[in-house]
Amino acid sequence: MKKTAILLSTSRYNGNTSALVDAVSDQTDVDVFNLKNYNISPFDYEHKNIDDDFVPLVKKLLNYEHIVFASPVYWYSMTAQMKTFFDRISDLLHVKKELGRKLRSKTCSVVSTGASPQPETSFEETFINSFDYLGMKYNGMLYCYCEEKFKLKEHKVNINSFIESM
Ligand SMILES: Cc1cc2nc3c(=O)[nH]c(=O)nc-3n(C[C@H](O)[C@H](O)[C@H](O)COP(=O)(O)O)c2cc1C
Repeated sequence: MKKTAILLSTSRYNGNTSALVDAVSDQTDVDVFNLKNYNISPFDYEHKNIDDDFVPLVKKLLNYEHIVFASPVYWYSMTAQMKTFFDRISDLLHVKKELGRKLRSKTCSVVSTGASPQPETSFEETFINSFDYLGMKYNGMLYCYCEEKFKLKEHKVNINSFIESM
């Protein structure tokens, strides 16, 4: 298995996406970074926020070969905090370019939960297009449909296949 980090974003501390990430991390040697612990402000064309927690977090993530982005589906898309993280990746294309170049060697995947039986295509497309633009290799998505609460036994087979693909 590649050296793996999971970047988690959810508005619910003990919710479905956290439970899914726990199920993956309990069975694997991965490190989890929760975006709620980082102060990352919205993209600024003048890069006046370059000293917030974004660059230190990116430097940590660059120590891994495989980055898993974990987000619930909120309004057909990733969480606002994760979208802010992606917006800030633009910093790495204009300033801090040496960090942006290092993203190119990374493999990435997505894990998600949602209330629709099938994930809306817009959710995964944003990730796929972003990884493609950044030259990162996409390894696929694990999506767990949660009518209400995440139930591990309903998703165990898919979680195990996802782990095997890591
Ligand atoms: C603000 C908000 C927007 C949502 N939008 C969608 C959506 O577009 N599609 C969907 O399938 N589920 C949607 N849901 C349901 C969540 O994706 C689902 O309950 C998920 O498992 C919640 O994960 P969490 O406990 O980590 O927040 C939404 C939930 C919230 C709170």
